[in-house]
Amino acid sequence: MNNSKLKRIFLSPPHMSGEEIKFVQEAFESNYIAPVGPQIDAFEREFCKITGMPYAVAVSSGTAAIHLALNILEIGRNDIVLASALTFIGSVSPVVFLGATPVFIDSDPLSWNMDTGLLADELKSLNKQGTLPKAVIPTDLYGQCVDMDRILKVCEPYGVPVVIDSAESLGATYKGKGAGTGAKASVYSFNGNKIITTSGGGMLASDDKKLIEQARFLSQQAKDNTPHYEHSQIGYNYRMSNVLAAIGRGQLTILKKRIEKKRWILNRYKKMLGDISGIDFKPEMNYGRSNCWLTVILITPDKFGADSEKIRITLEKENIESRPVWKPMHVQPVFKGCKIRGGKVSEDLFQRGLCLPSGTQMTEKDIERIVKIIKNCADKS
Ligand SMILES: Cc1ncc(COP(=O)(O)O)c(C=O)c1O
Repeated sequence: MNNSKLKRIFLSPPHMSGEEIKFVQEAFESNYIAPVGPQIDAFEREFCKITGMPYAVAVSSGTAAIHLALNILEIGRNDIVLASALTFIGSVSPVVFLGATPVFIDSDPLSWNMDTGLLADELKSLNKQGTLPKAVIPTDLYGQCVDMDRILKVCEPYGVPVVIDSAESLGATYKGKGAGTGAKASVYSFNGNKIITTSGGGMLASDDKKLIEQARFLSQQAKDNTPHYEHSQIGYNYRMSNVLAAIGRGQLTILKKRIEKKRWILNRYKKMLGDISGIDFKPEMNYGRSNCWLTVILITPDKFGADSEKIRITLEKENIESRPVWKPMHVQPVFKGCKIRGGKVSEDLFQRGLCLPSGTQMTEKDIERIVKIIKNCADKS
C-alpha cells in the first residue's frame, strides 16, 4: 500500500473529548447563539479556576487579546514595543495595528525564549536615548514559560509593563504557578492547533480587574452604559461566541489529560531518537514544566546525515505534516528594516529546527512510523 494514501498525520490537530457537546447543546437550547451568554461567563470562570488567573475575558483570538492589551496600555504611533524574534506573527502584528514599532530581541540559546541579557541591553540603550518601549511582549515558546522573574527584574526599574504571550503555553507552569502569572496581562490562544481549542478564540487574563473590565468593554464595540447606542471611544468586535465558549468549557475539563499525552509523545520521540547523533531536543528549563505543546528537534546535518528540510519533505511525501521552527520576525519580509538585538540564535533555530507531529490522538505506532522515516533520511555513506 502506498503510505501517502494513509490517513494524514497533522502537526497538532484539534481533539474533541466528547465533553464539549453537552455544553454546546446547552448553548443551543438557551438560544444564545451570540457573542454573549452564560457559556462565556462560565468559560471565563472555569478558565480562572484552572489557571489561577484572577480575571479573564474571552475573545475571538489570541491576536485580538494582544491587540486589546496593547490598546489599554495606550500604545500608539511612535511608540516602541519589544518582542521575541522567535515567535508567531500574531504576537507582533497588533503592535503594527496600533502604529507602533516592534524591536526584536533574539532567543536565549538554552530556553529559546527571549534572551533576558539582550533585553536588559536593549532597555539600557533605549533608556539612554530617552526612547523607552511602552511594553515588552515575550513569548512562551512551544509551551515553555519564559523566566518571568528575570524578565520582571529587568523591566521593573524602567517601569515597562510586560504582556506575556502565553498563546502556546496554557497549562504549563513557572515555579509552580500557571503560565502567564506575574505579567501585567497574559494572552492565551484556542486556535485549532493549540493544546485545547475552541476552533478559534483567545483569552486575556490579568490580576488587574480594571484592565479586564476595560478589555471586555473594548471587545464589544466600546458601547457606553446607555439604553441607546452611545460611543465615546472606538472599540472592536472581538468577543468570543457563546457557542465557542461552550466548546472551550468541555476542552478545559481535559486540559490535564492533553498535557500528559503531549509529554508522553515527547518522551516516546526522545526514547526512539534521543541517542541519534545530530538530533537534539528542545531543552526544558528546570524552573517550570512545559505543556509540551509541540515536540521540536534540532538537526545538525553534518552529524545526522540530512538537514531538517529533507526530513520535512520526506515526511510530507508520506502524508505526514511537520513544520520548520518559526521563521524569526526580523527576517520576515514584512519586518524588513526593523531593529533586532542579536539574531543569530533564532536564525540558527529556524535553519535547524523541526516541529514533529504532536497531535494527542497519535498512537505508539504513528510515532514509530514517523521515527523510522526520519532515521531513513540519514545519508549512511
Ligand atoms: C506565539 C503565538 N502568539 C500569538 C498567536 C495568535 O493566536 P491566535 O491564532 O489565536 O490569534 C499564536 C497562535 O496562533 C502563537 O502561537
